[in-house]
Amino acid sequence: MYDNNPTLVGIQKKIDESRQGEAFYREQAEGAGQSSKRFYIESYGCQMNFSDSEIVASILADSGYQPTRFLEEADLILINTCSIREKAEETVRKRLRIFDKVKGQRPGTLVGVLGCMAERLKSKFLEEEKLVDLVVGPDAYRDLPSLIGTAEDGDKGINVFLSREETYADISPLRLDSNGVAAFISIMRGCDNMCSFCVVPFTRGRERSRNAFSIVAEAAGLFEKGYREVTLLGQNVDSYKWENPEDGERVTFARLLEMVAKVSPELRVRFSTSHPKDITDEVLFTIARYENICSYIHLPVQSGNSRILELMNRTYGREWYMNKVRRIYEVIPDCAISSDIITGFCTETEEEHQDTLSMIEFARYSMSYMFYYSERPGTLAARKYEDDVPMKVKKRRLQEVIRLQTQVSFQHNLKDIGKAFKVLIEGDSKRSDKDFKGRNSQNKMVVFPKVEGLKPGDYCYVKINKATSATLKGEIVEGPEG
Ligand code: SAH
Ligand code: SF4
Ligand code: F3S
Repeated sequence: MYDNNPTLVGIQKKIDESRQGEAFYREQAEGAGQSSKRFYIESYGCQMNFSDSEIVASILADSGYQPTRFLEEADLILINTCSIREKAEETVRKRLRIFDKVKGQRPGTLVGVLGCMAERLKSKFLEEEKLVDLVVGPDAYRDLPSLIGTAEDGDKGINVFLSREETYADISPLRLDSNGVAAFISIMRGCDNMCSFCVVPFTRGRERSRNAFSIVAEAAGLFEKGYREVTLLGQNVDSYKWENPEDGERVTFARLLEMVAKVSPELRVRFSTSHPKDITDEVLFTIARYENICSYIHLPVQSGNSRILELMNRTYGREWYMNKVRRIYEVIPDCAISSDIITGFCTETEEEHQDTLSMIEFARYSMSYMFYYSERPGTLAARKYEDDVPMKVKKRRLQEVIRLQTQVSFQHNLKDIGKAFKVLIEGDSKRSDKDFKGRNSQNKMVVFPKVEGLKPGDYCYVKINKATSATLKGEIVEGPEG
């Protein structure tokens, strides 16, 4: 049908290649009556958005919609959007152009914009993108069925109300693209920090923590289904706090980690993201105490310079961050730390940029997500500071950061040669179905030849004999001593 449209053929190819979660789609399709409507959902942005899409899928399934991987057979096309950088929004607009074409060929198809861009632009979206039928913010997904009804009647469906309470605690997410081994669990929503560059507090609203028992129950349910890894998600997991209304017990993030770790020693626990100002010793000791809580902390620094950090409103300085890193390596010696870095923030000088480079070496990050600064309308930085570092300079600094981080990652991985790691098998490696891929506790991807009797979801020990900056390679051995 779309043979002449290279983009659509490309998407179809991508969908065909992605075998993960296929069984789920097949089951859903087999169970679906001829008359049931189908939705297609695409997600952009952070893991929280992907996790939200699974909540949306669950809400839609409850109101009779079946998921499809094929755009051209969808009655409802949803795009869960991200506003974090200008580029993220451009990507969404490009996708909407393609959805418009599908809609042109299949009148009656509804197109809905969900997530952060829906929240940021609100009704402006409907003015700018005429063919969008639904605009739904991250706290309004329960309203989707009724908004779809409104759109089916020919009106536009919009709800961008931000809530102080909504955590979707009672909704059991539909694991759409899951490998059946690792899953994400949202433990909180929103963000109360006001990093001056960041749009998230505006698109996601106030911070609120989810009922701890519902989190543990979700983890236990996943374990029963065969999952062996959960990642607890929040913009700032260390500020998780929930009070049991029955006995007034306060659950901190450290306590929550412990509760989830106790579901089973065979269930790995990860978490993201930690804010350097909020991660406590108690959290570090808890990680150290439980073998199944992974030795890996994503601790975004953003900049290595104290003046820039202050302008960013990160509430810590260079020295303070360095002490945190020292403390992590002291309490959890085998811990891997990763980071997020922004280059060319307002007024950043060459010297200050050098501080970011030296921080990468100091912290010995196993890897980083690296970006050049992109001004976001409405943020503190957009209102207060001039975006005065020329694009060329921002991009050059970013290249320097990427180059250094690649070297540091490579050094980090070289040190693993000769060690044996416990690896949770996730599936076939990308390159060959003769190899498995999986992660070690430090969140590094490990590739190794398959052996009889092992399958995804099993643990094994792999002795590393080769490393690139992104992957470790090795062979299965009997135990930790290799
Ligand atoms: N809550 C997490 C990060 C969420 S956003 C934290 O506090 O670390 C993910 C990353 O996007 C940020 O860490 C930051 O590095 C980057 N980012 C956010 N706003 C940005 C902007 N305006 N320009 C460039 N990068 C940005
Ligand atoms: Fe944005 Fe800062 Fe909140 Fe992270 S902690 S989401 S960077 S405001
Ligand atoms: Fe993007 Fe929203 Fe996440 S802006 S990074 S999808 S919270």
